[in-house]
Amino acid sequence: MSDQMERKKRILSGIQPTGTFTLGNYIGAVRNWGSLQEDFECLYMVADLHSLTVRQEPAALRRQTREAAAMLLAAGIDPKVSLLFVQSHVPAHVQLSWILSCNTQFGELSRMTQFKDKSAKHADNVNAGLFTYPALMAADILVYNADLVPVGVDQKQHLELARNVAQRFNNLYSPTFTLPEPYIGKTGAKIMSLQEPDKKMSKSDSNANSFILMTDDADTILRKCKRAVTDSDGVVRAGDGKPGVTNLMSIYSSLTGKTFADIEKEFEGQGYGVFKEAVAGSVIDAFRPIQAEYARILADREYLDGVLKEGAAAASRIADRMVAKVYKKVGLVQL
Ligand code: TRP
Repeated sequence: MSDQMERKKRILSGIQPTGTFTLGNYIGAVRNWGSLQEDFECLYMVADLHSLTVRQEPAALRRQTREAAAMLLAAGIDPKVSLLFVQSHVPAHVQLSWILSCNTQFGELSRMTQFKDKSAKHADNVNAGLFTYPALMAADILVYNADLVPVGVDQKQHLELARNVAQRFNNLYSPTFTLPEPYIGKTGAKIMSLQEPDKKMSKSDSNANSFILMTDDADTILRKCKRAVTDSDGVVRAGDGKPGVTNLMSIYSSLTGKTFADIEKEFEGQGYGVFKEAVAGSVIDAFRPIQAEYARILADREYLDGVLKEGAAAASRIADRMVAKVYKKVGLVQL
């Protein structure tokens, strides 16, 4: 077999450290990141620079950045196998993002739905970073020639933009960047709010009962599951008009591997109370070992910072080469 065929595809993904991860982050992203390590060369990044597009409290951002990294390790990212680093520790991302910004059109950025949503939500702070955010995200991906990017629907448009910018750069200069593809995982169910199941579960929701955090204790998880909004027909079945029950079934299915049909049978003739307790139990069981590991890692600052330092150094070795190549191609003088 040729080297080309044997080379594992490279995956890059990032998550913002804007708060403790939710059950939605876990099922939709974090959990899958660990399982990709066998088949792919993985680079995982805590996207602290992206967080600055919204006002952050400096001490909280610093704390949450380490917490995010600790949680990723606790959830199964093995730093001996994959690279785990903090975005701002690899200056090449910002260096490339400027060049890419100069190859991204105002019109393209204006069409980003996340920009429109976020600028409506933070009308008092529609800053330039919020607008050029996709150029930084493109740099995150292209600086490593990532083949695949696991993204949720809300980031798909940004990934498409990254592809377009890469293509444009390649055509204008010479083949430089790999065109990244979205990586669509197995089911990767989208987990909805427990209170308004037509909205995505979000840690920034003002109602704390609408989300489960990866750090919530067993009592809190049970209480939040019990309070989850369902409907009045009392039958555990997925489908139209039953968004709350369907969401709870998605959670239970994702964590136990049971199909919707299995679940409907399991709870046939039983009320929502029993079902909700079972859902809570599956979450508690999934989080128990992760929470223990998380506490251990967070308490060991030397280990955690050591992992991040090594991750940043290894990532920089790849990324710096790309920046040097790109700087040269666009005509910047190399001494
Ligand atoms: N923008 C992504 C989010 O908010 C996080 C992110 C930053 C990312 N850079 C990335 C995701 C590169 C994938 C690839 O969820």
